[in-house]
Amino acid sequence: MKFRICNPTDIRFGNGQIEALRELVPPNSRVLLLYGGGSIKSNGIYDQVMAGLKDSKVVEFGGVEPNPVYETLQKAAAVARENNVDLILGVGGGSVIDAAKFLATMVSLGSDDPWPDLAAGKLPATTLPVGAVLTLPATGSESNAVSVISSRERKLKLPFRNEAARPAFAILDPSTMQSLSRQQLENGVVDAFTHVLEQYLTSPVNAPIHYGYSETLLRVLAEWGPKLVETGGDEARENVMWAANQALNGLIGAGVPQDWSTHMIGHAITAVYNVDHARTLSVIMPSLMRYKAAQKQAMLARYGRTVWSITETDDAVAAEKAIEQTEQFFKTMGCPVRISELGLDFSPTDILEHLERAGQTALGENRDIDAPSVRQILSMAA
Ligand code: NZQ
Ligand code: ZN
Repeated sequence: MKFRICNPTDIRFGNGQIEALRELVPPNSRVLLLYGGGSIKSNGIYDQVMAGLKDSKVVEFGGVEPNPVYETLQKAAAVARENNVDLILGVGGGSVIDAAKFLATMVSLGSDDPWPDLAAGKLPATTLPVGAVLTLPATGSESNAVSVISSRERKLKLPFRNEAARPAFAILDPSTMQSLSRQQLENGVVDAFTHVLEQYLTSPVNAPIHYGYSETLLRVLAEWGPKLVETGGDEARENVMWAANQALNGLIGAGVPQDWSTHMIGHAITAVYNVDHARTLSVIMPSLMRYKAAQKQAMLARYGRTVWSITETDDAVAAEKAIEQTEQFFKTMGCPVRISELGLDFSPTDILEHLERAGQTALGENRDIDAPSVRQILSMAA
């Protein structure tokens, strides 16, 4: 397929890179510093950021939730407008960085309630510039154009894309990961791993460069994810942080079929039951792969052989073994692989209703995962 790649995010990678803010943020800027529940204030990241912004006027807005909430960002937009800020700096994980990008878009639109326009794809031509200081590798949000935002009022969790809001710069300092809990590290690895699979496990096309790079990312996450949670260390933090960024910066998905159905079903589970993003993926993906095993057989078999060293020559058997290995990996990373493990009073109808309201009723690379298919996948994942 034809594709265009334009990823202009200036990435500063490595321990101690937060000090690059001095160079990245022009002196006398008016910066809105956006952050989450306050972890940056107890782990020293806030102090490093403020040192890097010493020549700027800083307005703070804290309290962005994990799975960021639109109604909170409406308040942040009012603060950004009152203070006439000229840069939004998100310091946190995917939630805060998604929020920073969405906020930049909201402020530029001028309306107090731009959700309907944004959901309809009506974007401003330009937005305020965004910068990111990443503290949790998982989403790739720091150099992509997507924000996943939840509206409490509308009971919806939706992905939005705005190329103009792609961060102008992103600081990836692996030392910030030292204060992450084991569960957050596990989540990050599993999220990044599924990002690669959603762009890779589709119909085979002649894309050996994409496939080779995807397989490298999967092997790196499979090797270094367990090391990260068991022993930590600079090498594990560096390898996982870089792999998670590369998994969803647009490169491996450019011009090839993609299947984001696990993510869309997962977003619905989070919207309805408030489950961590990665744990929705680990419960859905194995069953979705089994449901689509025939259609995805060639890539599943290839994935099994290249990533999990499966020697089976029969593609159907190799594909099933690859799914079993994926389940085993998710378990090794402490994540559930069945909905029953989440301990919820689960109703498939709630998920189907969310997908319907979100307009996500024709999922998958062939747009053939409809409501009855989702019901079947949920029953296999029960
Ligand atoms: O709120 P704070 O204090 O920042 O604490 C967070 C939060 O409680 C904490 N945390 C982050 N860095 C930390 C830290 N705690 C201690 N030390 C640190 N260094 O971790 C918790 C979870 O953070 P969150 O940002 O929610 O996690 P994640 O990065 O996994 O982001 C998840 C969100 O990203 C969306 C998800 O749907 C979800 O809303 N996604 C965004 C994507 C994108 N932009 O392309 C794609 C993804 O598939 C995903 O959908
Ligand atoms: Zn994800």
